[in-house]
Amino acid sequence: MATAELAGKHLVLGMTGGIACYKIAELTRLLTKAGATVQVVMTEAATQFITPVTMQALSGRPVYTSQWDARVPNNMAHIDLSREADAIVIAPASTDFLAKLAHGMADDLLSTLCVARDCPLLVVPAMNRQMWQNPATQRNVTQLRADGIEVLGPDSGPQACGEVGDGRMLEAAATYEAIASFFSPKILSGRRVLLTAGPTFEPLDPVRGITNRSSGKMGFALARAAQQAGAEVHLIAGPVALETPWGVFRQDVQTAQQMHDAVMHSVADADIFIGVAAVADWRVDHASEHKIKKTAERTLPTFTFVENPDILASVARLPHPPFAVGFAAESGDLEVHGEEKRARKNVPLLIGNLGPLTFGLDDNEVILFEAGGATKLPRADKQTLARALIVEIARRLPDPSLIR
Ligand code: C5P
Repeated sequence: MATAELAGKHLVLGMTGGIACYKIAELTRLLTKAGATVQVVMTEAATQFITPVTMQALSGRPVYTSQWDARVPNNMAHIDLSREADAIVIAPASTDFLAKLAHGMADDLLSTLCVARDCPLLVVPAMNRQMWQNPATQRNVTQLRADGIEVLGPDSGPQACGEVGDGRMLEAAATYEAIASFFSPKILSGRRVLLTAGPTFEPLDPVRGITNRSSGKMGFALARAAQQAGAEVHLIAGPVALETPWGVFRQDVQTAQQMHDAVMHSVADADIFIGVAAVADWRVDHASEHKIKKTAERTLPTFTFVENPDILASVARLPHPPFAVGFAAESGDLEVHGEEKRARKNVPLLIGNLGPLTFGLDDNEVILFEAGGATKLPRADKQTLARALIVEIARRLPDPSLIR
């Protein structure tokens, strides 16, 4: 999870009435853990769903619910609260509140605070699907976007009312990521990034197969960091148990051949290709159509392997390749093999995992190989490292006008 963008930020977290208020308890925890200070302001309706006591305990600050709060010395809570803020985030943002914002209404503390703000405003809608699809709501949302207000979500899926559709609030973690993304420097703005991540799965028969220990964490962290840096991100993932980073387009595949075909189908649109996947080098020539059974004679099965395509090398061989970045995980002698591998794969940058294999771990230490030499980056958690790597990649990109 990204944290650096939010450290030291002061956010006003405005809550309006909706069952999604329960998600804001977790969101507040995530924001404060990342080093942000959170000033909660609740509408009267929000206090029907979760108590100010809970929100005060989680944010560590008294909650404001009324315009006439005697705790504000000059009695101008609507001015004072927003003047310190780096942003106001309305979550959940109800149908009614979106309508009020679109029309500049100011009839309670939170709406007045929004009209009187001198900082960015982000809204995280949460409502029933019919309310979201209502033409009036859609008109209001269009107006809010035109007014420079960031609209985060909504998500699609089952709703508290039992219906299914668009309108549910983003989950707390996704809301947190979207807020972090808002504060990230947009060093990849206008760039399209294609990544592979995770292992591949090469079937032996319908139930068995060959895979490896890649968790996909590094690739997903890079996809998240690239999205937060303003890129349009397409992530092609092997079988992993990870949530899709907010704002990233994800395509799931199983085998190396499928991953290769998916990459080749989309690579023409990419400015940057990052091959993070641990792609199986070989597959079984003919996977059995039926489950391979033990025989009475107990004869052992034998398999013939064929080589899988090297996706990274195929990308680098294209007549107009994107800026291609490879990864290398070695069980020894990385410093010797890294530069040799980079040159062999013909990519401008290869990132080597230093030390023992780091599959599944949250920390990593890497070394960058390029024609000019090798550079070590300090050990860090994978998300911090991913952000640092995105900066390193952005720094090495050719001028956008020269890219193709
Ligand atoms: O040769 P090796 O597997 O060590 O190279 C690792 C790099 O090459 C990674 O970037 C990986 O994603 C990529 N690769 C690939 N297709 C393969 C094998 C590796 O894209 N078949």
